[in-house]
Parts: sequence; C-alpha cells; structure tokens
Amino acid sequence: MTILVTGGAGYIGSHTCLELLNAGYQVVVVDNLCNSDMESLKRVEQLTGKSITMYQFDARDEKQLESVFSNHNIACVIHFAGLKAVGESVSIPLTYYHNNLVSTMALCKVMKKYNVSNFIFSSSATVYAQDNEMPLHEGGHLGCTNPYGWTKLMGEQILKDISLADPAFSVVLLRYFNPIGAHQSGMIGEDPSGIPNNLLPYITQTALGRLERLTVHGNDYDTKDGTGVRDYIHVVDLARGHLKAVEYATKHQGCEAINLGTGVGYSVLDIIHAFEKENDVQVPYVIGPRRPGDIGSVYADPRKALDLLGWEAKLGIADMCRDAWNWQKQNPRGYRE
Ligand code: NAD
Ligand code: UD1
Repeated sequence: MTILVTGGAGYIGSHTCLELLNAGYQVVVVDNLCNSDMESLKRVEQLTGKSITMYQFDARDEKQLESVFSNHNIACVIHFAGLKAVGESVSIPLTYYHNNLVSTMALCKVMKKYNVSNFIFSSSATVYAQDNEMPLHEGGHLGCTNPYGWTKLMGEQILKDISLADPAFSVVLLRYFNPIGAHQSGMIGEDPSGIPNNLLPYITQTALGRLERLTVHGNDYDTKDGTGVRDYIHVVDLARGHLKAVEYATKHQGCEAINLGTGVGYSVLDIIHAFEKENDVQVPYVIGPRRPGDIGSVYADPRKALDLLGWEAKLGIADMCRDAWNWQKQNPRGYRE
C-alpha cells in the first residue's frame, strides 16, 4: 500500500516515514524543504534499508500534485506539510493561512479527482479553547488565540465538511500534544532553525553549551511547582499513532478528531530534572516571567485513541529525555553538519 506523506522530511514526518517503511508501506513524500533538509529522508532510508520517492515542490501546487497521483497508486494521504511557529504566525498571518489551508484544499481536490479517500491531518491541542477543564477530551470547546491555531481549526472544519458532503471520504484529525524526543538511533530528530521556542530543543542546546541558560517562563501557575504543565509525547509513539490512523481510515468512513497524548502532565521543572538525571548533564536555568499566551496546564484525555485506534503511548519521560539528548549530541548542528 502506498502512502503519500506531505511534509515527510520534517520532524514528525521523517519519524512517521520510518515507521511506515518498517511496517511494509511504500512511501511517497512531497516536501518543499522550507523547514527541513533532504538529509532526514536519506537517513530514514539508511535506517530502514528501503527507499522513498521524494518530490520537492509546494503542496499547494495542484498540477504537480496531479502528476504524483497519476504516477502512484496512493491509498492514503498523511498531511504534515505546514508552517508551525506560533509567534511567526502572528507577524505573517496571511503566509500561514495561505500555506496551511491552500495545501489542504489542493490535496483534497486532487484526491477527489483520483478517487483517493483517506486523509490523516496533523492537528494540534492548540485547537482547544482555554476555558476547558483538564484533561482535554475531543468534545471540548474549540477556539484559538493565534493564526497558527486557526489554520489548524479551519483545516479541521474544511475536512469535516468535505467528509459530510462525501460519505466515502474518511478523515482522521490527529490532535498532537507536545511531541519531543527523537528516534533511538540518534540519526533523526528535531532540527529547529535559529533559537528554539519550544522547551526540549532549548534544553538540549543549553546542555550542549550552545545556549547559556534556559529561562523558565513563570513559576506562579496553579500547578504543583508553579511552572507550566504539558503532555509531552515521544515522537516515535506519535509516529506509530499515524500508522494506526491509516489502518482506521481505510476501514471506516466519516471524520474523527483524536487526541495523541499520554494523559500525563509534567512541569517544566520535572522535565529539567528528568533530563539532568537521565543524561547526567546540567541544564542551567533562571526563572523568568510568564510567556504571553501560555496557560498553566495542558494535558490530554487519551482514551479515544485507545478505543478507536487501539493506540496508546508506550515511551516515558526518561526515554524522551534520553533520545532527545542522544540526537543532539550526535548532531550538534542538526542536519547542517
Ligand atoms: P516541521 O516543520 O519539521 O515539518 C513540516 C514539513 O512541511 C517541513 O519539512 C516543511 O519543509 C514542509 N512544508 C511546509 N509547508 C509546505 C508546503 N506548502 N509544501 C510542501 N512542504 C511544506 O514540523 P513538524 O513538527 O514535523 O510538524 C508537522 C505537522 O504537525 C505540522 O502541520 C504542524 O503544524 C503539526 N503539529 C506539530 C506540532 C509540534 O510540536 N511539532 C504540534 C502539533 C501539530
Ligand atoms: C507550543 C505552541 C503550541 C504548539 C506546541 C508544539 C505556543 C504558545 N504554543 O506549545 O501551539 O502546538 O508548542 O510543541 O507557542 N517553556 C519555558 N522556557 C522555554 C520554552 C518553554 O519555560 O524556553 C515552557 C512553556 O512556558 C511551557 C512549556 O515549557 O510551559 C512547553 O513549552 P513549548 O515547548 O513552547 O510548548 P507549548 O507552549 O505547550
């Protein structure tokens, strides 16, 4: 069975390509490499001993998409391609709306033409409104505070409407919590450009000495130690969730939103301490003010994923910290070595 993976050279995409190949799927990638490097896919090929067909173009380009669909017998599309930096989306909203929404619509249009009806969408826990109780379940209130989040929520709505109009169209909206870690080989991992915004890449680069110290964004939240609590999920667990979603989509119809999280929340200090303990390194930090837009606690109710997909996260925080560090140590400058 052939799976089209858009954004397959990126962080989550590359880990998913690896799992797909290991499970016996054929993988076709479309990626314009605007936030990634071909090296990730070369390493996936090395790790699996299998090859990937890669097309480098923008997923908004319907003509080029058509040629991919006519060259390959695609059974399912996993759509990772998208821009994902929250702060940047506030500065250049039109770029975000255009990139993330037009790519989704172009894919749906071409899929319809080529009778391909299974779609897995990269959504995010950011689509939940801030007034929900924890843990977040899929029926919670939806609403966003930044353009990036809206591109995900609008993408979900577009796909839901298409599946309502065409009952053969099967969609799984995967709402990721906080993906961290790397493949255990240390050969593929997260490779942010510039100074990282997210916690784990900031920690690994601080431990390496590339950054002087981490600033903990606030210690006055209503959490066990006052620092922000999140549901961190190992990227390999997350990748495996996509394989379950592919199986589900090909056997069912309609549109389902499903959380991919562990259900367990860890604070910033928990993560720093787990990272130091697991890797026997120091992460110098200072406490700073809250980061605008952050909330105290975010964690998933992961039961729907277990009920519908038969998937649950297996790897723990020690695995996540070990694998993130292993990747960073082996690739201090990411893929740009
Ligand atoms: P990433 O930036 O590493 O990967 C995205 C890939 O898409 C990159 O390889 C980039 O080059 C490609 N791309 C972007 N726009 C494209 C376009 N128009 N045409 C072709 N390729 C394009 O990001 P990631 O962390 O792997 O995230 C994958 C998806 O998951 C994104 O849609 C993101 O919004 C979503 N998501 C990520 C997180 C996270 O924390 N990483 C959380 C929730 C949701
Ligand atoms: C952020 C995005 C979210 C996206 C997610 C992907 C924002 C507001 N939200 O979520 O849309 O889906 O990344 O992973 O950007 N922290 C520090 N110091 C740092 C960095 C982070 O203390 O230098 C804290 C944060 O305050 C938070 C936790 O670490 O409590 C996790 O932060 P981060 O990795 O940025 O993820 P989110 O804020 O959950």
